[in-house]
Amino acid sequence: RFFRKMYKGEYFTWLSQLGAQKASSPVKSIQTPSGTTLNQQDCTDTPVSYARGKSDQLGRVSLTEYRIRYDPSITDAPAYWAHQARTVLSWVRGFETVCSGSFARGDIKWFVEGQLNASYNCVDRHAFQDPDRVAIIFEGNEENEGRNISYGELLEQVCKVAWVLKESGVRKGDIVAIYMPVTPEAIVAILACARIGAVHSVIFAGFSPAALRTRVVDAKCKAVITADESRRGSKTINLKNIVDAAVEDCPFLTTVIVHKRAADGTCKMKTGRDMWWHEECSKWPCYIPPEPLNAEDPLFLLYTSGSTGRPKGLMHTVGGYLVGAAVTTKHVFDVRDGDRFFCGGDIGWITGHTYLVYGPLLLGVSTLVFEGTLAYPTYERYWKIIEKHRVTQLHSSPTALRMIKKAGDKYVGGDLSSLRTIGCVGEPLAPEVWKWCHEVIGKGKIHIVDTYFQTETGSNVLTPLVGMIPPKPGSVTLPFFGIRPAILDPLTGEEIQESSREGVLAFKAPWPSMARTIYGYHSRFMETYMNPYKGYYFTGDAATRDEDGYYWIRGRVDDVINVSGHRLSTAEVEAALLKHPAVAETAVIGVQDDLTGQALNALVALKPGKDHAETLEAEFKAQVRKEIGPFATPKAVFIVDDLPKTRSGKIMRRILRNLVEGKTDQLGDTTTVSLATAFEPS
Ligand code: WT7
Repeated sequence: RFFRKMYKGEYFTWLSQLGAQKASSPVKSIQTPSGTTLNQQDCTDTPVSYARGKSDQLGRVSLTEYRIRYDPSITDAPAYWAHQARTVLSWVRGFETVCSGSFARGDIKWFVEGQLNASYNCVDRHAFQDPDRVAIIFEGNEENEGRNISYGELLEQVCKVAWVLKESGVRKGDIVAIYMPVTPEAIVAILACARIGAVHSVIFAGFSPAALRTRVVDAKCKAVITADESRRGSKTINLKNIVDAAVEDCPFLTTVIVHKRAADGTCKMKTGRDMWWHEECSKWPCYIPPEPLNAEDPLFLLYTSGSTGRPKGLMHTVGGYLVGAAVTTKHVFDVRDGDRFFCGGDIGWITGHTYLVYGPLLLGVSTLVFEGTLAYPTYERYWKIIEKHRVTQLHSSPTALRMIKKAGDKYVGGDLSSLRTIGCVGEPLAPEVWKWCHEVIGKGKIHIVDTYFQTETGSNVLTPLVGMIPPKPGSVTLPFFGIRPAILDPLTGEEIQESSREGVLAFKAPWPSMARTIYGYHSRFMETYMNPYKGYYFTGDAATRDEDGYYWIRGRVDDVINVSGHRLSTAEVEAALLKHPAVAETAVIGVQDDLTGQALNALVALKPGKDHAETLEAEFKAQVRKEIGPFATPKAVFIVDDLPKTRSGKIMRRILRNLVEGKTDQLGDTTTVSLATAFEPS
């Protein structure tokens, strides 16, 4: 019945176009730097399972295997990426130009003439091959809550929501905000946008109404897709109320689609704007043809924090992003047919986009969608999920792993024999946590991959590859195929060749999944990433490279703070605090924290005449919660008389950080500081 419903003629036109494209893929031979000739088909298209023969046990990994693939991917990067693009994706129209543009001009393009559709690649091609295969394993907040969604069902749901969007006037190129909990419907919403060529902008559901509004207004979103409520642990959050508060008087916003979760389902609906997901979906057919998009058409915006108060909407494009997502998911985590991939990241961040939604679905495996938290009802939750669903990969964060470790070894247990890889991303994974994962969770048999990437890079750029790169706890190891990192002297911009000297991390050649611009603000994109070191993409992180060529990330060199893997900008939090009537001046700093990596501390100088009332600290914390969201609340607030500044008026955060951390002997050079003595934490 499924096939009868789907086969409607138009689909076959698509398929025949695809066939024509595939046949034209060229096969090339390449010379490695050491002079060996390699047939590209043999070395870059080798399925991971082939390499795995040598690496089923930790320690028996083949760095040679990595070299055989990495070297040619650098010698002729366009050939490498073109081959990947043709292997992992289905195109409606082929491309001839693999890559054009330069960092210096900020006009990078990939697979220029190509046309494709993301939802087709994530859903249709698997649904038509094997409609009953599980696409999404949903594990709800409560342990008995959940269901499986097959690729066939997913296709139907995506098509229906695509219809709803289309019928409410959303067109190709329009931007749609998605403010949803981590549920299958969030994935459906994302893919429905992609299907009709609308650009999704997922906004983390922990953001406050004010923060949501800023992002909806910045992109002039035409529609918002949300749910009436979300459940995490013992908390229920009314998302629809937050959306209502956020989008009041947004003239460009015409539609709010609400997925109903609450049993009573009685949230207020605004006539003419709000509609129930289930009611609308029931009106439309279960198939809509995917819109062919140009490879360089935008797929999504994802807002992240930078060194100014204004969040930036990084724009990713269809072709390049999908190639990066598919190829890295496959190689970094060793994904094989039939795997069940569990990414604990939120869909509101890049990890969720790439490794919860796009990566696993592009590969046609099952992705596990978990709405709850790792501590609810107890710290055993992750292991119970892994046992219940026979999870093969767990992708998590250092904070999550630290929390589980701190809760105690007694919580780790159950049958984890299905689990082959544990990945993490977002902040440094300390060697002792690495070892704990390896020994206590993995019993020495599970691969640990500490991966490095950014919202801007789209997919992993420095990362261990299961079975190919021997790990070193604390290091993100080596570059992914086709990626050319460099460590630069921060002052001269010269490449640092010698090992173990710290510099800033940059990349010297473009890769397909890199962000193309900041939405509506290309000059800021250039200033932030391309102009600091001409000819390079600048990450904002410091790093070193050891004698084996392994990379070690040393933290941000800009005003970005990393709390539990959430990226926050000091300027954004400061701007929130400055809206409080008692605040004259403030400096927000990140101080070391055992659990969250870094913690936010705010130092506040009051306006003249304002008393240091008892309640002020709590008011300031509430202010940040209101402006940004609970996850950005400062851990400590200090009321101070004044803030140390350079003579040119810049606040000296370095000094403040050392003072708060009690490192008064490490204040460094204070000769240019005025008023340094005025600081007295209360
Ligand atoms: C920044 C990017 C949560 C999604 C992934 C992060 C830091 C990322 C590592 C790592 C040390 C890391 C960097 C980077 N970071 N991975 N393995 N070791 N630091 O995406 O929110 O865009 O943040 O996270 O500072 O620049 P993001």
